[in-house]
Amino acid sequence: MTNDTTVEKTTDADTVLPLRHAPFRPAFPAVALAAAILGGFGLAGHLSAVIGFGFPLGPAFPALVQAHGHAQLIGWAGLFVMAFSLHVVPRLASVPLAHPRWVAAILRLMGAGLLLRTAGQPALAYLGARAGGAGVGWALVASGLLEGAGIAVYLLLLVRSLRGTGDLRTQPAFAAVRPFFGTMIAGWLIFGVVNVISVTDMALRGRAVVDSTWDLLAIQSFLDLALLPVAMAFSVRLLPMFLALSAAFWPVRETAYAYLAAACLALVAPAVALFGLANRSVDLLGGIAGMIKGGVILWFTWQLDLLTRRRPVERPARFLQIGPARPPTRPGLPDFGEFGRFELLVYSAYVWLVLAALFEMLNGWAMAQGLPLAVGEGVVRHIYLLGFITQLICGVSVRTLPGFLGKRAVACPPLVAPMFWLMNAATVLRVVPLILPSAAKDLAPAVGQMARVGFGLSGVVALAAVILLAISLVGTMRTDR
Ligand code: HEM
Repeated sequence: MTNDTTVEKTTDADTVLPLRHAPFRPAFPAVALAAAILGGFGLAGHLSAVIGFGFPLGPAFPALVQAHGHAQLIGWAGLFVMAFSLHVVPRLASVPLAHPRWVAAILRLMGAGLLLRTAGQPALAYLGARAGGAGVGWALVASGLLEGAGIAVYLLLLVRSLRGTGDLRTQPAFAAVRPFFGTMIAGWLIFGVVNVISVTDMALRGRAVVDSTWDLLAIQSFLDLALLPVAMAFSVRLLPMFLALSAAFWPVRETAYAYLAAACLALVAPAVALFGLANRSVDLLGGIAGMIKGGVILWFTWQLDLLTRRRPVERPARFLQIGPARPPTRPGLPDFGEFGRFELLVYSAYVWLVLAALFEMLNGWAMAQGLPLAVGEGVVRHIYLLGFITQLICGVSVRTLPGFLGKRAVACPPLVAPMFWLMNAATVLRVVPLILPSAAKDLAPAVGQMARVGFGLSGVVALAAVILLAISLVGTMRTDR
């Protein structure tokens, strides 16, 4: 699955034909890292410092927030998802990529769209009604169209490739996670369409910020339908191999359908808000959906057994290959430490996921009761995106990228543990100050002061962690095979 470019496929006539897989494209993670460092996390450093150290927010602040959110969702997380899915999904389904040449076009379209959006939206906010403002507004529409085209080509490529999968009964590993990938396709599709509509609406209104109802729908559909399902699918298929977990002998498919149902119900509230139809019944539905979604995520994590380790450890063949000529693997793990302590990032990602799911259930209960949310939506979103998705990307990319590129080890394995500490410090600093009850801050003003300073530093700390990841991955790309 990792560095093979050739596997075998048996035809009806039982002849074994070589099946050529497209090689991994390191340009995808390279652009994702550039988008994260120069766009998403760079802006996060600015936003958190402005809020934490009490600088005036300024009229451009909402546009910077949206540019940050977009660069993070699509540039950082989205491009990693594209890179991994184009490499792993065809191997899982034992089909070649239908049109390998399209991959470069996808990256060009996405890269150009992202550049226009991340640079254009802040520029538009500063220009306002001045000369050039309208032109930048239409450049932002072009960004939506470019990204929409990139997403369309990517989805078409995946769907056309997967059409060759054949009888799913012969592909049980892929069949189990297929609904997660189907959900991911829907998530990208909804995001692409909503994004084009919202930037066009923004340009027509002559504003520098996307209407908040469209913005919320785009963010929630991408997080719930694209990022979380694909993270679950890759976790089911890859983590047992990397962390010596038991294989998935539990109803993965059914769990995926339950998740899909809950995530779709949860999207009803932001969708009807577009038409100004929000009412008590919609809140009740949204609350119930949130509780079910949180519950399904907890069930998924329990079954994955990563944090609980209830099932006996699988002993992959490599465990047994210990002898005088070969050093022992790390205790309980099938590697020799050549990927650094990547497992710490994966474990902490799942701890944050559990917390996010619990908060989502709590908020769902409050919504259903007609009470104010227990934890802010922005906080829960960042626990998912920074705590779970970002840490999972860091851990899994350090573990898999060397293999995808035909290398034995990640460049500089000792950098991985500091990456784990920095990323967790950033998540704690980004999230905890906003959960601390105001009573605690009032009782001890020093606590409030520390919380503000911590929040102010959170973006820079996360940026430092991503720079370490970039050093590791770019170094791996540049080392000899
Ligand atoms: C320490 C790192 C980060 C900091 C300091 C940070 C800071 C912020 C701030 C201050 C806001 C506006 C308030 C709010 O909505 O809560 C925001 C919004 C947002 N952030 Fe982050 N963020 C970080 C990491 C991330 C990551 C890793 C992602 C995604 C992978 C992300 C995605 C978003 C999104 C989607 C929004 C909403 C944007 C919108 O309203 O259009 N953030 N962030």
